[in-house]
Amino acid sequence: MPGEGPLQAALMQVHVELDALFLVHQRALLDRDVPRARDAFARFRDVLLRHADDEEAVVLPLYAACGGDATDSPSAQFRLEHDKLRRFLDELGPRLDALTPPIDDSELLAILDREGWFKNLLLHHDLRERNALYRLLSSLCDEAAQRAALARIARR
Ligand SMILES: [Fe+2]
Ligand SMILES: [Fe+2]
Repeated sequence: MPGEGPLQAALMQVHVELDALFLVHQRALLDRDVPRARDAFARFRDVLLRHADDEEAVVLPLYAACGGDATDSPSAQFRLEHDKLRRFLDELGPRLDALTPPIDDSELLAILDREGWFKNLLLHHDLRERNALYRLLSSLCDEAAQRAALARIARR
């Protein structure tokens, strides 16, 4: 079993960055600093959307070409999960925009509770990509193809 390939390493870095950005957002919420929470969410949202687009345009086609669709984790499943994440982002953005400072305890708890559902979905997606998509990419696709995909992502 080969080790972690270059694509897996680079994409996992984005997942680490996403977790850090969402933590910044939720810390701002806990401080009841709504403008800072909105800014942090906007940064998180941009990185997540960009990452999902990169995966759909470059990573998943490579995965499918290397045989990923013949496994029990076909590329269509990851696209469906991205759609769910995008729908959640579309819901959370306007909810944050609708918050009017100062926010009271019930408003804060309501948004954190909804974000808890989103975090569960994101964690599930992270684990599936980490344990299936990225791991299989490292073992099924040769390193040159992985490096070419990374270069394509960098050029986008
Ligand atoms: Fe990912
Ligand atoms: Fe993804």
